[in-house]
Amino acid sequence: METLTPDKNNHPPRTGEYALASGAAAVERLFVLHSIYSPAGRRLLLQAGLKPGMHVADFGCGVGAVTRMIGEMVGPTGSVTGVDVSAEQTQQASVICKQAGLRNVKFHTADACDTGLPRHSFDLVYCRFLLLHLPDPAACLREMHDLKDRMAAEGRARVTRGSGRLARIAAAIIGFPRAAENVPVRVDFKLQNGRERWTRTFAGCTFHSTQEQGRGRDAWLLCERFGPVKVAMALVLDGSRLRLIVRRWSVFGIPLPVWLAPRGNSYEYSENGRFHFHVETAHPFTGLIVGYRGWLVPRDCASQGSVPSTSP
Ligand SMILES: C[S@@+](CC[C@H](N)C(=O)[O-])C[C@H]1O[C@@H](n2cnc3c(N)ncnc32)[C@H](O)[C@@H]1O
Repeated sequence: METLTPDKNNHPPRTGEYALASGAAAVERLFVLHSIYSPAGRRLLLQAGLKPGMHVADFGCGVGAVTRMIGEMVGPTGSVTGVDVSAEQTQQASVICKQAGLRNVKFHTADACDTGLPRHSFDLVYCRFLLLHLPDPAACLREMHDLKDRMAAEGRARVTRGSGRLARIAAAIIGFPRAAENVPVRVDFKLQNGRERWTRTFAGCTFHSTQEQGRGRDAWLLCERFGPVKVAMALVLDGSRLRLIVRRWSVFGIPLPVWLAPRGNSYEYSENGRFHFHVETAHPFTGLIVGYRGWLVPRDCASQGSVPSTSP
């Protein structure tokens, strides 16, 4: 078995040998696991918006237990592509799905971190019991993310605005929405030149920012840009909340002291199957500029009506 030793830059190698049995020898074990985990898996997929007609990728598909389930859920107008690094697994999975009479399933033998599949070609990308086997799970998550078509989420929000003159000018320049209770909100995510463009629409008022992984001095931080303003934030786990804490910032590429940075009590969390956000943007000179809090679910769930329309 290959030993996973760090390379000279201290990065773990991206490939490691899968330690468990593959092919026919794996069928019984993986189907026992499937009988235990499939009800929760099915619920999760429905919650994520899986519906008939969708095109789905199942990463680390093994002998095809999940692939088969997804193939049945998306029906003949949809499709599922099972991806596994082991040809033994994909061959076995292909036999099992054929026996189940599925014609909307295909298999692709490739490393889940670099599949070679066309970018933005799937409505949903899923994996079960794969990441724990990978030396570099983040690379796999990036690949999963890149295969997904553009994403959108919808929900409701409450918007508050600062009343100071400078706060109103700053909000107008960026295009922040007006104060309102329980307004519809939609966020569209689109990958553009290695950055994710977030388009937020609150009751018809739209503003944009881009987000990207920080590099160099911003390594390990999430960088968000509003026009010429770049804010680098640490993502800090605080109980069940993920806090966004400003560590650095710059305007037109010129770094500025952090005590002058935009700030606010901003965090995200999950509750009742929904993503909740609580975002405040304030500045020492202006006080609160804008605050918005509410919830979002994947667009397909919202349009299916599977999530009740309650206030934020
Ligand atoms: C525990 S099995 C899970 C199979 C399936 N997802 C399920 O839940 O029944 C993990 C699978 O990941 C596959 N795997 C391991 N490393 C991989 C990699 N780098 N790329 C793609 N698949 C990989 C293995 O071959 C194995 O089939």
